[in-house]
Parts: sequence; C-alpha cells; structure tokens
Amino acid sequence: MLIYETIKDLSACVESLKQEGKTIGLLPTMGALHDGHLSLLRRAKEDNDVVICSIFVNPVQFNNEEDLKKYPRDIEADIALLEANECDIVFIPSEDEIYPEPPTEKYNFGELEQVMEGVARPGHFNGVAIIVRRLFDWTKADNAYFGEKDFQQVAIIKDLVRQYSIPVKIVVCPIYRDADGLASSSRNKRLSPEKRALAPKIHQILLNSASCVADLSLSQIKGFVMSDFKMYKDFKVEYFEIVDDVTLQPVMQKGANGVVGCIAVWLDGVRLIDMQRYY
Ligand code: PAJ
Repeated sequence: MLIYETIKDLSACVESLKQEGKTIGLLPTMGALHDGHLSLLRRAKEDNDVVICSIFVNPVQFNNEEDLKKYPRDIEADIALLEANECDIVFIPSEDEIYPEPPTEKYNFGELEQVMEGVARPGHFNGVAIIVRRLFDWTKADNAYFGEKDFQQVAIIKDLVRQYSIPVKIVVCPIYRDADGLASSSRNKRLSPEKRALAPKIHQILLNSASCVADLSLSQIKGFVMSDFKMYKDFKVEYFEIVDDVTLQPVMQKGANGVVGCIAVWLDGVRLIDMQRYY
C-alpha cells in the first residue's frame, strides 16, 4: 500500500495511473475507520483498478471546536486496517498541505442545506464541499464512494458534482450496521455499555415505523416515531424529518421521488444519526 502525505506526490501517482488507463475509486474519510468505512472500501475495490482512501479530519467542516478536539484519531490503526483490507493508496495530508491559506470558497446548496444537519451545523456542508471538491480535483477519481448514513451529505455532494460538472460518478453505499442494528460509527465507542445496549432502539423504532407505511399516513408515522422515543428518557431527539429523497424537503405524502426518514438523536452526550427508507 502506498502512503502519500503531499498533493505533489499524490498527483504524480495519479498522473501515471491515468496514463496506464487505470480507473480510480476515491473513498474520502476522516479516519477512525470502522466496518462501515470498510464496506465502502470493499465496494470501491470491486468497481475500480485502484482505490485511494483519504484520511483528513477536516477542521472547516466542524462548527464546534470541542467536537473537532474530541474527534478520534488513530492513524496507525487506520493504516493497519487499510493495509489488511488491501487498499491501494492512502492519502494522509497535514492541515497545512490542504489549507496553506484559510479557504474562502463559498458554496450554495439552496434548500438542500436549509434543513436537518444544515440547520443544526451551520457552515458544515460548505466545509465538506471545500474538501471533497479538492479531493476530486487531486485524485481525478472516476468513482467516489459515500455512505447513505450521511444521507444529506450525499445529496449535497451530488449537487456539488452537478453544479460544477465534475467528472466523477458518486456511488452511494447502504448503511453498514453492527450485529444489533446500530449504524456503525466511531462515536458509538463513546457510549457507556448500558447506553450502547439501548442504542439499537433507534434502528428498531425506525424499522418498526416503516412496517406501518401501508396503514398510516406519513404524518402519523412521524408522530408514532416521536412518541416511541419519548418512552425512553435517555433519548433526546434533535430532529426526525420525513423528507423527499432528492429535495430533502419534508413531505406529507409520497410524490415522484422516494421518501426517507432522517434522525439525529442524543444518547449519553453522543449525537447519533440514522435513516430509514419508507418508499
Ligand atoms: P467520515 O465520517 O469518516 O465518513 C466517511 C464515509 O464513510 C462517509 O461517506 C460516510 O457516510 C461513510 N460511513 C460512515 N459510517 C458508515 C456506515 N455505518 N455505513 C456506511 N457508510 C458509512 O463523512 C465524512 O467522513 C466527511 O464528511 C468527509 C466526506 C470525509 C469529508 O470530510
């Protein structure tokens, strides 16, 4: 596995891969890798000649200093995991490498960023777009892999690609879950054993609500989910929205597009997100 720390070295490698006609898959991450990331790596390996995984805790997408400081970092473990799973190239740049000057790009995602995570985390998606667009440029990826767990992030990235006609295909991968149904996340390790045992309820409640779509309206489903969470005093729902899967705007009935429920819920001081498809 090749490890690059500079854009110059990465670009030279990408240039020669392109000349050899190799297809490149990009997996952008912030490290603290777990099985969810590895499921994306497996998919990327199936589709491409070469897979580049980037590891960079992107400071400009954190709107909270504390969250940035607390973000788990274990680069040795990440490298070992990528090596064991036959990743081809890892890009691990420093902050100065990515941002020699503070970035000034301003993206506009309209209504896509005015709901859910966009409301809860002002500036977050602009920061995501800044790093992801630069990574697309440097890696010249044919395909880039993103998890449906961050459902709104996928919509934003697709819009970024559309707005700037970036020649990359966005491949959306399903949520990878721990055996008990909790969506795999580096944050899960911050839960106490007792709260970790409760956390799979999030998926259970959403899954259960989806089994009622034939009998209940979407607004009844929303009420049903909210009242289910109220039965557990440890959960604090930050938002639960049932939205159009393209526009991300709340919907009351099914239209031309799909319908998904997106949730952010606090448990034990940890903010967990998940989603459930209804149609
Ligand atoms: P990070 O949280 O490290 O996630 C990297 C990718 O892994 C994202 O596309 C995310 O949706 C996906 N992922 C995480 N957990 C998953 C799970 N349980 N199942 C499936 N996919 C999962 O998302 C980011 O980093 C950053 O915002 C980034 C895109 C790298 C920009 O900095």
